[in-house]
Amino acid sequence: MQIFLDSADYKEIEKWLQQGVIDGLTTNPSIMFKDAVYDIEEGARRLCSLLGDRPVSVEVTTNNPKEMVGQARSFARWAPNIVVKIPVINENGESCLGVMSALHREGMRVNATAILSFNQAMLAAKAGATYVSLFAGRIADEGNDPAIVIRNTRAWLDDWGMASRIIVGSIRAVGDIQTAALAGAHILTIPPQFLSKMLDHKYTRDTVRQFNQDADKAMAQIAEVHARSGAGR
Ligand code: E4P
Repeated sequence: MQIFLDSADYKEIEKWLQQGVIDGLTTNPSIMFKDAVYDIEEGARRLCSLLGDRPVSVEVTTNNPKEMVGQARSFARWAPNIVVKIPVINENGESCLGVMSALHREGMRVNATAILSFNQAMLAAKAGATYVSLFAGRIADEGNDPAIVIRNTRAWLDDWGMASRIIVGSIRAVGDIQTAALAGAHILTIPPQFLSKMLDHKYTRDTVRQFNQDADKAMAQIAEVHARSGAGR
């Protein structure tokens, strides 16, 4: 399973890359805005360079499917590791599957985004999406169970040998991460604050403190023994 960061915060990305646990990055216009990346091209180029050859998802910013194709072609020229994020439908409910299919045929990697159901995921996979992004938090907002949607999507992709990979995003709590990981997500995209929470544990800190204190006591014992044997000479 891979872990992507769901962020455009340069410092946090650098920090977590350095920890060796990050396989890619996802953004969307809201994340870019929150992290004060207002110029999408400049920000995306900088993030792509920071990520090296790892994939970086950047979302189109138009509601018009034809314009999405044009934007995607521009994005793809910014860096070789760009993945273009296309919503499965636009805000009017019009299909964006044709956009995905055209970009796929042109050799671009597409992240089909804002997916809230198994049916949407199936169609996006058929249209050639490299990634299908299931929005766990938003699925739960509607009273549905993200684990079931993830598990069913994974089973269907596996049964039919489909190449699309599931990214689970819209993570709202650390519990969502373990649920998605165990339900069969290929990739989790995680906001940095949850990575910190995953890692920390009060009892681990206490355990390490106990070991360090005992190591210090042992060193003190050795020093005392040396001092005594030196005094006896
Ligand atoms: C990731 O690809 C998504 O854009 C992101 O996780 C959405 O999260 P949200 O539902 O918290 O906006």
